Amino acid sequence: MAIDAAALTRALDWNGLDRIAEPLASTVRGAYESQGTVGQQVKDLVHGVWLGHPLHPVLTDIPVGAWTVALALDTVAADDPGMRRAARLAIGVGLLGAVGAAVTGLTDWVETGGRSRRLGLIHGLLNVAATGLMAASWLERGNGGRSAGVASAWAGYLVAAGSAYLGGELVFGRRIGVTHAAVEEPEEFSEVARSSDLAEGSMKRVRKDDVDALLVRQGGKVRALAHSCAHMGGPLSEGTLKDGSVVCPWHGSEFSLDDGRVLRGPATQPQPRFEVRERDGAVEIKATD
Ligand code: FES
Repeated sequence: MAIDAAALTRALDWNGLDRIAEPLASTVRGAYESQGTVGQQVKDLVHGVWLGHPLHPVLTDIPVGAWTVALALDTVAADDPGMRRAARLAIGVGLLGAVGAAVTGLTDWVETGGRSRRLGLIHGLLNVAATGLMAASWLERGNGGRSAGVASAWAGYLVAAGSAYLGGELVFGRRIGVTHAAVEEPEEFSEVARSSDLAEGSMKRVRKDDVDALLVRQGGKVRALAHSCAHMGGPLSEGTLKDGSVVCPWHGSEFSLDDGRVLRGPATQPQPRFEVRERDGAVEIKATD
């Protein structure tokens, strides 16, 4: 599919999109926040914290797959009444999946910003259009308008395909939904700080060669996590230190200091941790095996 990259770039530079994006994002975030702890738990569920990666791409497979089946049945078994009913059923299954994909995508999108948020808005609006066309197809088929139903389905499918391209750009081009934290170095214990530089209850960012880590001393024990937040790379050393956890300053993800697991989203992937030891007045870390 040929994509006009220049037009897309111009669209992403147009801050008029923010006049839609910002009120929509604050409305969605406010709806979750108004429900307090339960709202946060639901939000974490929808992000996919329990799954260890975003739930949204799992659910997008349902409409894409179901609508592909519908169009295949339309094409190869157009004269078979049973297959026509099956095609309509597949359209309906896809619509149900599209609702789940919309809820998860919208919730993830709220925690983006800048050009990624504008691109996500275009992606979402295209998906709304595709879903609307598929809903029209389902209704038309139910009312005996098969030709119109097939035409609406093809139009919806093409719009969905364009939107899927933008979804790929969000993930692979802009790293939305993939971890921004990785720990591969050092393979052997390496000194990154002096013990005396890390007071009880303090955090410190240390950088050495390819290592970028957050050191925390609590209860006399030093623990170390990757410094860039797994969600979108926020600087954890500028976040809030709690008892046994750290909260990212950008979107509030909270990670356990013990094992890096996500205690609160929007991050879904755990924060990588380092093994730590103190020897001869030095704090040494290495990547976990
Ligand atoms: S960058 Fe989003 S929560 Fe850390």
